[in-house]
Amino acid sequence: MRTIKIFDTTLRDGEQSPGASMNVDEKIQMAKQLVRLGVDIIEAGFPIASPGDFEAVKRIANEVRGTTIAGLARAKEEDIRRAYEAIKQAPEHRIHTFHSSSDVHLKYQYRISREEALKRSIAMVELARSLAADVEFSAMDATRTDLSYLIELILAVVEAGATTVNIPDTVGYTTPVEFGATIKAVKDKIGDRAVISVHCHNDLGLAVANSLAAIMSGAGQVECTINGIGERAGNCSMEEVVMNLATRKDIYRATTNIRTREIIRTSRLLTRITGIRVQPNKAIVGANAFAHESGIHQDGLLKEKMTYEIIKPEDIGLKQTELVLGKHSGRHAFKVRLQELGYDLTPEEIESAFVKFKHLADQKKQIFDEDLEALVTEEVSKIPEAFRLTDLKVSSGMGVVPKSTVKMKIRGRAVQKTATGDGPVDATYQAIAAITKTKSNLLKFDVKGITGGTDALGEVVVTLQENGKSVRGQGADTDIIVAAAKAYITALNKLASRKK
Ligand code: KIV
Ligand code: ZN
Repeated sequence: MRTIKIFDTTLRDGEQSPGASMNVDEKIQMAKQLVRLGVDIIEAGFPIASPGDFEAVKRIANEVRGTTIAGLARAKEEDIRRAYEAIKQAPEHRIHTFHSSSDVHLKYQYRISREEALKRSIAMVELARSLAADVEFSAMDATRTDLSYLIELILAVVEAGATTVNIPDTVGYTTPVEFGATIKAVKDKIGDRAVISVHCHNDLGLAVANSLAAIMSGAGQVECTINGIGERAGNCSMEEVVMNLATRKDIYRATTNIRTREIIRTSRLLTRITGIRVQPNKAIVGANAFAHESGIHQDGLLKEKMTYEIIKPEDIGLKQTELVLGKHSGRHAFKVRLQELGYDLTPEEIESAFVKFKHLADQKKQIFDEDLEALVTEEVSKIPEAFRLTDLKVSSGMGVVPKSTVKMKIRGRAVQKTATGDGPVDATYQAIAAITKTKSNLLKFDVKGITGGTDALGEVVVTLQENGKSVRGQGADTDIIVAAAKAYITALNKLASRKK
């Protein structure tokens, strides 16, 4: 059985999804979870894109262990050197360089000939190999490239030292039959001299199918993202490709190093960090992926799970929500549970999360893993607190003008304001905007109950925009107005720390 390498690009191509930008601490948190999941390579970012991207890749290379860290670079000397600077501290690092190969890109975007593109690609792979032993070359828009030129280019970069050659379906144009044939043609020429990778976009909903067809034709690496996030319609979804291989070993005869029981936690962490929700009917990680509604199906399942269940929910880490902690749980139990959930917090973060936990336990009898995850996500984002909520009183109801009195600490100074609005959230937001003297636009406001019951922790995710920059804030509380206030203040703190 072959082992297919999983190259995760959630932090690079995934971050190119509108609204998916993450701060450095969030990227580190995500990268550590990707290691627990067992990915072979993490593409940590595009270091030349901005100083922030460079810093994020560098910190991941310095702090995350147990996987290869890749940095993306155009086939340009300054990009390649910058990528290498960012990743070099990682014990296993990879330079991933790319150049377009299709005539449409070469003619209209680059305005160069095929020969020139070939020459640049060879030279840049040679440069990358002089810096790193592990070099990947991507022929961008490969699926709209003349096949004989694509093969010539791939052979040349392998000759120049590329250890992995990627055939991206950049615009999500190919089909499983066509892509399978392309990969076979490449494999027939290069044999085992380099690993063939594929990187499929989902514009026609075929990214997973195309990646699987490529595996059948000899691809040894799949590039994908958690929840399939990514540019436009997204990238190949990691959980779908991995569970296809795991479920249909009889067809694909290939496996991965992914610990599938970490799938659901990874998916939820990404949702929590980016605020991008998964559609309920999405395969594997959608809320309804294991929900059987039909009476006939339920009848069958009660008699024998195999009748309608092709994947065991526990195989992707779904379990009956467990009661984990309550009001009387102590620090030790709290800390141990966080460790079991994979959180690696400093003593100060644990202390601060524990205070919040006790407060929550006073309001909510049963505290579940999901509640703890929401609580701890606030801790690990590490945004300097220019603004802090200290108290909130709201009056609203039928026939009354909603009014909110907010008390906050602004850089340590106590301030209070009362405001009215169209609803309790609006009134609260007016008061916060007046206290913080900020003028941001609220682009998005999302509310969700984390667990069931009327005492459930409610989670609010907001997106604010100020001077063309958008940031996301998340807040959780049993009181939805307090959760909304926390989310708003977190986003304001992000804007304030960006200004600094
Ligand atoms: O879609 C694409 O072609 C890419 C390359 C940079 C690999 O993201
Ligand atoms: Zn891409």
